[in-house]
Amino acid sequence: MSNIVINIDGKEVHTKEGEYLLNAARANDIFIPAICYLTRCSPTLACRICLVEADGKQVYACNAKAKDGMNITTTTENIEKERRAIMEVYDVNHPLQCGVCDQSGECELQNYTLEIGVDSQNYAVKDVDRSSHDWGHLHYDPGLCIVCERCVTACKDMIGDNSLKTIARGADALNVEYKENMPKDAYAMWNKLNKSVIGLTNGTDVLDCTSCGECAAVCPVGALVDTHFMYKSNAWELKQVPATCGHCSAGCQISYDVKHTSIENPEEKIYRVMNEWNYVSLCGAGRYGFDYQNSNVEKDEAAFEKAVEAFKTADTIKFTSTITNEEALILEKLKEKFGYKLVNDEAKAFQTFLHNYSDISGTRLYGSDLKEMMDSNFIVSVGTAIKTDNPNARYSLNNSLTVNKGAALYFHPVKDPIIDNLGKNILSINHKPLQEEAVLYLILDLFADKDKLPSKVVKYLSSFHSKKKITVTETIKEKVIEKVKEMKLNEETGKEEEVEIEKTKMVPKKVSKEIEVDDNKLISMLNMPDNFNETLEKFLKKKDSFSLIVGPDLYNHPNSKNIARLVALIEKYSEFKLIMIPTLTNTLGVSLINELSEEEGKYAVGYNTKADFTLSALGDGDLDMPAINQQEGTLTSINKRVNPTNQAIGYGGYTLNDIANALGLEAQNTIDYTKELPTSKGFLSQSFDDLPNYYTNAGEEMRGYEIKNMGRRVSSDESVSKINESLALENDIIYLANPVRQFTDFTNKTTNLDEVSGIYMSEEFLSNSELNEGDSLKIKNENGEMVANIISDNKIAGDIVIIPTFDSKLNSEALVNGYRFATASIEKV
Ligand code: SF4
Ligand code: SF4
Ligand code: FES
Repeated sequence: MSNIVINIDGKEVHTKEGEYLLNAARANDIFIPAICYLTRCSPTLACRICLVEADGKQVYACNAKAKDGMNITTTTENIEKERRAIMEVYDVNHPLQCGVCDQSGECELQNYTLEIGVDSQNYAVKDVDRSSHDWGHLHYDPGLCIVCERCVTACKDMIGDNSLKTIARGADALNVEYKENMPKDAYAMWNKLNKSVIGLTNGTDVLDCTSCGECAAVCPVGALVDTHFMYKSNAWELKQVPATCGHCSAGCQISYDVKHTSIENPEEKIYRVMNEWNYVSLCGAGRYGFDYQNSNVEKDEAAFEKAVEAFKTADTIKFTSTITNEEALILEKLKEKFGYKLVNDEAKAFQTFLHNYSDISGTRLYGSDLKEMMDSNFIVSVGTAIKTDNPNARYSLNNSLTVNKGAALYFHPVKDPIIDNLGKNILSINHKPLQEEAVLYLILDLFADKDKLPSKVVKYLSSFHSKKKITVTETIKEKVIEKVKEMKLNEETGKEEEVEIEKTKMVPKKVSKEIEVDDNKLISMLNMPDNFNETLEKFLKKKDSFSLIVGPDLYNHPNSKNIARLVALIEKYSEFKLIMIPTLTNTLGVSLINELSEEEGKYAVGYNTKADFTLSALGDGDLDMPAINQQEGTLTSINKRVNPTNQAIGYGGYTLNDIANALGLEAQNTIDYTKELPTSKGFLSQSFDDLPNYYTNAGEEMRGYEIKNMGRRVSSDESVSKINESLALENDIIYLANPVRQFTDFTNKTTNLDEVSGIYMSEEFLSNSELNEGDSLKIKNENGEMVANIISDNKIAGDIVIIPTFDSKLNSEALVNGYRFATASIEKV
């Protein structure tokens, strides 16, 4: 899109050719009323209030595109009449229950009614019964619904579940006189509104979705609300604490909305989580999994002394990546002072992967981010159960498919109906575990510039190709001579006579013939559909921006070094922009800040993981620590941003900084370390209090800062090894992954997330076996064993058994040897 200049209400506005006028206006702080449009989604024209005049013609600002030199007027007499009528219509039959409505105080219906000055009503229609629906974590009141369809749009264009739609209201028709007499856009909008309410696409009254709550967040009125928040608080009583979600590496912007617990109890409590939904979409864990704080902790001096002693005795600190950058830096400083081994297996695997990748790429970090992925139109995903590893990556994938008319290939061994339902332009290839190298070679083969790729790789790729003969049927035109009888004048007799003549005509004929075609063994190796080449050709039409997203299956793969190098070759020699999913919340931060060891020593202090002495924000250790929602600090996200987070809930105990101070470090607060984060790794020397935390009206993310992607010396060695075809897993395969909305023991601790701990199996798998939901199973292999009950999960398919990590008591990680897939015996107990 080229840069252009348009004029809005006399103001010169710089924008891009083809940008929606509404977005161009917003980016320049010009207000145009708009209700149904959601930034990042397709316009639906449900509200029509965004009418403007562009070059003398009335258009909808949310779907009219900017052209160079365009002149826009945001209000005219006619537009004002339309807007006034639209708001009157929205107020028809809207119950006067603002006093008890959850949205009161932040309701767009209230705001626009006042803004446009609706003080009388010219329209009426008989109301119909519109009773409320209990949709589990959501409550829908059609009586309050203005049918703006924002919920439908968010679910379809952002989230990808497509669980909501408009259904018939069964109302009386509008009085015909309105059609003649009222402003025409207001009438058209009302006519549609009066016929609809919101229902579920599955045709039932049971909402079965990934339960993100985004639809309720975008609802402008009190029609769709989170059940947990219903009648709990007025919006204006809540204090918004700007924060970063602590559950996965997406690092979503959130605000914890807090107020006192009750009249008797002044202690602050989180009542809900909100987000800047125009620019960021949350998953259900971010939205509902907020009460994971370590509550009622007081300073336990004796436990603190023991902790200090434990640090003095220890030679190892074990920790998880659910800590802030500042805490990671404290651990690093303690390591430098006392020579500890810092052990964090998951971050170590990611760190090593990044290191191996950068040997070829020459950069410390992957080059792209989720924003760029969302803007691209051809995406390939490899080595990640994307839906649960990083829900925002799935949203970006879906948004590219729906809004950019994109296409995607999803390579993963676990069949995922949620991914398949994202649309017909995504192809899932459920290859076998341990075939990820073959997938990456296939991507190189299909997309890399062979003139630039190392010649050995080109040669190896060509070894997969051969010619094969196939029989194809084609239709040819064949010449046939037909004898037909015709009447002809006999010149001698002067009479018409029947004569037989020959006529030539071309008729279609199906013939089979043998042709020679390219046979790519990589395609058959990965069990891909026979028509893959045709599908790909169709997918690639009009595609010009490519993203590759890779994930945690690769970091502990037995050939992860080679895989990291292959990934780097793809980024270097093809058009793909690369994103890696860091495994946990702050895996990227930890992998940049800490020098990690592989082996534990003799005595370990654990932070959020069991050890000889355990510090725990879960409240189950030897000394309590604050959880992420009780801390100030920063977290490094998949988008390589250092995002600030603030304390939502009070904490009365000791922190890691207190221990560090007792051991000789000196910092008044943990956030004193923010400006000391290592600049050699791309962090900036900025104090916590100077970090911004907002989005601009143009949607630019101004949260913290982006880490500099520092260059590294590029090795001239670009060699990669061949696919190890001997690696294979036999029957009864288990996979270490979580159900939607669960990530760690912290999400498991929260009250609104109802996914329970157990062994997750697809409905399909259970119906083909003797096993039933609730049965107790023992899963065992040479690495370990676990016993838990079966949970039937309709959000996976196929026969791979999912063992979750969000409940560390299950000890599921003991069953795998790094790589997330393993073979195990599964028996009923
Ligand atoms: S439930 Fe809310 S978001 Fe959905 S159509 Fe009704 S008013 Fe709009
Ligand atoms: S909760 Fe999320 S997935 Fe479910 S209907 Fe709402 S937007 Fe869609
Ligand atoms: S915002 Fe443009 S039609 Fe609703």
